[in-house]
Amino acid sequence: MKKRQIAFELTVFDSLKDLPVEDQQLMREAIKARGDAYAPYSNFQVGAAVLLENGSIVIGNNQENASYPSGLCAERVAVFQAGAKYPGVAIRTIAITATSKNYAVDTPAAPCGNCRQSIAEYEQKQHSPIALVLMGETGEVFKCDSLVDILPLAFDNSFLK
Ligand code: THU
Repeated sequence: MKKRQIAFELTVFDSLKDLPVEDQQLMREAIKARGDAYAPYSNFQVGAAVLLENGSIVIGNNQENASYPSGLCAERVAVFQAGAKYPGVAIRTIAITATSKNYAVDTPAAPCGNCRQSIAEYEQKQHSPIALVLMGETGEVFKCDSLVDILPLAFDNSFLK
């Protein structure tokens, strides 16, 4: 028997203005998208912006539903739209930000488990890392170099033979 440790490193920026310009621009698109979220039930508005290797940016925001599970997170709205509009074009970075009508979100919003699984599929398919830039409304910004870092021991199609 032995113990094994799985660790990962991320970059922490004090605020949005400390990010590289390209990431700042992408986050600004996510902030804009966040404002258009349809979130009347949770009052928690999430915006996502996906940067593709061809330079295109595709946005998404959470879309809720009176039948709660029928809604969809911002990240999957964005990533699925990117897959639909630009099939075969790799994703380089996804910026994600959240705000709430109920409280001030001052910690970075990380994607939920379902979104991690969905993004992991794209990362595996394209054979290159997808970076994540995560922010609340204010405060620190996290940058993760690869989706798999935040989904250790992921299930993927290598198990399906
Ligand atoms: N939400 C996202 O859009 N992304 C996440 O990764 C976490 C949660 C949305 C779903 C729902 O509309 C609201 O936030 C509250 O869970």
